[in-house]
Amino acid sequence: MRVAAIVPAAGRGERLGHPVPKALLQIGGQSLVEHAVAGLIRAGVELVVVAAPADVIDEVRRLVPQATVVPGGSDRCASVRLALDAIPVDVDAVLVHDAARPFGSDDVVQRVVAALDSGAPAVIPVVPLVDTVKRVDGNGAVIETIDRATLRAVQTPQGFRRDVLAAAHANATATVTDDAALVEAMGIEVKTVDGDPRAFKVTTAWDLTVAEALWEWGRR
Ligand code: C5P
Repeated sequence: MRVAAIVPAAGRGERLGHPVPKALLQIGGQSLVEHAVAGLIRAGVELVVVAAPADVIDEVRRLVPQATVVPGGSDRCASVRLALDAIPVDVDAVLVHDAARPFGSDDVVQRVVAALDSGAPAVIPVVPLVDTVKRVDGNGAVIETIDRATLRAVQTPQGFRRDVLAAAHANATATVTDDAALVEAMGIEVKTVDGDPRAFKVTTAWDLTVAEALWEWGRR
């Protein structure tokens, strides 16, 4: 099975409140996009396509020379679609991995690829929720407590048979925050495998602080 990966890295990272595009923020002297691409290659992925912010595309090409870099789109879905167009037709399976997850583990990539290899059309890594979860109304009043045992937080890389991912994006009528939602909407089963807490997404300034601390700790 030939496996390629798409790294959507074209977001501005507005929730971080930083003027630099999120994928270029550094942890341990390397940008988030460098960490994400290096992790995929280390785990055995042979081709990586990065969707980068158009205004810093030359900088991203310089940082990740081992990847093909294309300009991203106005939302994550558009960025994935543009990167998918750059994947050769003989690729059987495509992983989609957020640039904002610098510490994705090799084991998670291998679990996703193994499930694809066993015939699953779509695979997502998940972790259990640790906090109790409640649904609230517009005023913040609690409507209900949701049974946490049935809930999972979804990470990346998500893996897809290439034809399934292409069809999901061709049929997309709404923009979604993950590709698996498009596959679910087509009525195709999405399999889950165990994720890893280290594969958390850097979204807020707090996450960046935690990532920096983890990096320092890992080096000691
Ligand atoms: O904003 P959020 O962290 O949910 O974005 C998830 C991933 O999607 C990030 O790696 C971000 O760079 C990417 N993205 C993109 N193109 C956009 C918006 C987000 O590639 N237009």
